[in-house]
Amino acid sequence: MSTPTSATIEDQGVASVDLSTSIGSFRLPAPTMTASGCAAAGAELAPYLDLAALGAVVTKSVLREARSGRATPRMAETPSGMLNSIGLQGPGIDAFLAHDLPVLAEAGARVVVSIAGGDPEEFGELAGRIAGLGPGSPVGAVEVNISCPNVANRGLVFACDPGASRAVLEAVSGAVRASARPDLPVLAKLSPDVTDLVAVALACTEGGATGLTAINTTLGMVVDPVTLRPQLAGVTGGTSGPAIRPIAVRCVWQLTAAQRAGVLPDVPVVGAGGVASGADALQLVAAGACAVQVGTATFADPSAPARVARELEAELARRGVARLADVVGIAHEPGRGTTRGAAR
Ligand SMILES: Cc1cc2nc3c(=O)[nH]c(=O)nc-3n(C[C@H](O)[C@H](O)[C@H](O)COP(=O)(O)O)c2cc1C
Repeated sequence: MSTPTSATIEDQGVASVDLSTSIGSFRLPAPTMTASGCAAAGAELAPYLDLAALGAVVTKSVLREARSGRATPRMAETPSGMLNSIGLQGPGIDAFLAHDLPVLAEAGARVVVSIAGGDPEEFGELAGRIAGLGPGSPVGAVEVNISCPNVANRGLVFACDPGASRAVLEAVSGAVRASARPDLPVLAKLSPDVTDLVAVALACTEGGATGLTAINTTLGMVVDPVTLRPQLAGVTGGTSGPAIRPIAVRCVWQLTAAQRAGVLPDVPVVGAGGVASGADALQLVAAGACAVQVGTATFADPSAPARVARELEAELARRGVARLADVVGIAHEPGRGTTRGAAR
């Protein structure tokens, strides 16, 4: 499918599409963001796109201390995606605040800071440091990566247990409420590797999450076809890329269906998983996402988060849709689908 130019959009009589969206108090001029961990702290994408024009830059998950991550090899290719077992590599919160965040502020980026920890206290401390920066900072939201091991419970990831997820969100939202930014949106980033996603999401909102991101990677494994040994040093890894897009669409659908049924609070849902084009992003939006993250696609095309926004605009313009908001969740509404000009 070729991407229509602005001339072809105008030829069809749609001058522009309003792509703006919001996550609570966080206003985004465009609905695409980077996905955590796929572009370090974000500044490395600056040669390829205008960071200030993106909806937001989502940082690699930040921890209290510097960490070097897991042993190598920690990336493996797989059909329509990849596996990673990077672990939570990073410079720690002090270096992040001293070096990485100022670079993003200087570039005019809106920033979602992803945080991770081994216990609720670490999450709370990190959230307090970030929210404590005050309203002048470039931070528009905190994303809570609950797909990391709970040191107090045999390394079981928080996201797989509603009670543990709630405890993390309580620590984060408590720290945010006590800060200079009490209304800073708090996104809980969900794992698809659960039996009852809505139960975990509900526990997160009960804990104080004001938004949800779906999804993190799904656990996979590759056996080296030559050595017949696990290809990743960590044996298992997180699967990402187009292979998981149907899982992401399903998760966004389940969350927003639960919201429509009154089972889950009506907080914003951000979609992530296998988005490589505007048409991919539109699937997540139609399923109910108000914004979309682009991760693995960035490795092949560092401009992907910006390109996906342009392609999404063209997809909507071709259908005669003037506002992104008009198609958020449209897949839930029988009789409201679009056909006009849709690419097949
Ligand atoms: C190499 C790599 C590193 C990642 N690191 C993080 C991370 O630090 N924190 C996090 O919440 N998600 C992390 N993710 C998950 C992505 O943010 C995203 O949720 C997932 O990859 C699905 O999106 P995608 O298919 O567009 O990549 C990572 C993904 C990859 C591929």
